[in-house]
Amino acid sequence: MSILIKGGELINPESGTIEQSDILVERGKISKILPRGTIEEQGPRLTTINATEKLVVPGLIDMHVHLREPGEEYKESIATGTMAAVAGGYTSVACMPNTKPPNDCRSVTEFILRRARGAGLARVYPIASITMGQKGLVLSEFGDLREAGAVAVSEDGYSVVDSELMRRAMEYARYHGLAVICHCEDRSLSEGGVMHEGVVSTRIGLPGIPAASEEIMVFREICLARLTGTPVHIAHVSTKGSVSLIRKAKEEGILVTAETAPHYFALDHHALMGYDTRFKVNPPLRTPADVQAVRQGLADGVIDVIATDHAPHSAIEKDVEFDRAAFGMIGLETALPMTLSLVREGVLGMVEAFRKMTCNPAGILGIQGGGIKEGAPADLAVIDADIEYVLSEEDFHSRSKNSPFIGMPLKGRNDLTMIGGRIVWQESGKHTGC
Ligand code: DOR
Repeated sequence: MSILIKGGELINPESGTIEQSDILVERGKISKILPRGTIEEQGPRLTTINATEKLVVPGLIDMHVHLREPGEEYKESIATGTMAAVAGGYTSVACMPNTKPPNDCRSVTEFILRRARGAGLARVYPIASITMGQKGLVLSEFGDLREAGAVAVSEDGYSVVDSELMRRAMEYARYHGLAVICHCEDRSLSEGGVMHEGVVSTRIGLPGIPAASEEIMVFREICLARLTGTPVHIAHVSTKGSVSLIRKAKEEGILVTAETAPHYFALDHHALMGYDTRFKVNPPLRTPADVQAVRQGLADGVIDVIATDHAPHSAIEKDVEFDRAAFGMIGLETALPMTLSLVREGVLGMVEAFRKMTCNPAGILGIQGGGIKEGAPADLAVIDADIEYVLSEEDFHSRSKNSPFIGMPLKGRNDLTMIGGRIVWQESGKHTGC
């Protein structure tokens, strides 16, 4: 069967172009991209998708999600997490290793890939833990993990405390072609903290996590990147100091890239005044000045990627006293409207916004996708950038509902997701065609 996507505004972040073009998809691939109206619209086995007044973009790529399987399927499974992904416009996600057990060996990586194939939705790229059991003592078997299908290593949730071990991790990761993703947190400073340390934490009487706990580790990872020559990627940047450290490192030619998540450019620590645990996340929501610096970092290219850090938790972990609640919020189904708000506010151009959600993460992870070109697998999303709506709990496809954006007015929504030429999500009818 062939599919014609016609009438849309085609955004190609790789080539930096916005065109009025139609796309013909045949045998799972993009076979033709031609000016609007020039592809013959006939044939018994041709399905037409009307994308008039819509954006057609490469399928979004999220390099930072938690799918919770194996071990915590009551929060999320690979099937429900990838359903949330395709609903949000994502065709590929890279999943963090802090599952139960952690993804520190071939059998867990293979299990994740098997479950992802079974789900038949988004492409899943496993990220392995840097150390066995995420205990920070002994490196995982990088070669084995790479062979099994891992694309990166990360200790997400922790920093590797031992700098010598982290140095070796960078050297081995580079040898094996694995990206290194750094969760930056000095636990000796953050332990016991439940929100950003500042005027709001003082006022509402909650223990704080200082910005320095992130920045110390960002600086160490930059030093180790310089020492080893290994490219490092800094996860979920939240502070002004981190942005300026990364900016300076890039200016010096150190191989560092960085990501942030929508909650760090859209929310600040005042959101915690009501003790609502949906706003509890690690790193924590920071000050308005930090939010401004993160937005500036996105605008001037210091921050390369918008990821979600989709971190599902059930009511058991969230409907409890603030200090006992789990850190984390879901994000796969709201990242697109939040990023489009940056475009409307003039922080990012349209092409640049999609670069940060497509070809930039693909390049860092060394995976396919992120562009629209003839001959490439047809991984695409069709987006209605103008629709206005409010999400309620029932609207989410994730098994968990811990979103800070429930009840907030949103603008822009994914309408259709195609992976390898298969329509796996369509907003009208909310259907999956797997
Ligand atoms: O808020 C967070 N939640 N930050 C992390 O680093 C881990 C994540 C989780 O796994 O819940």
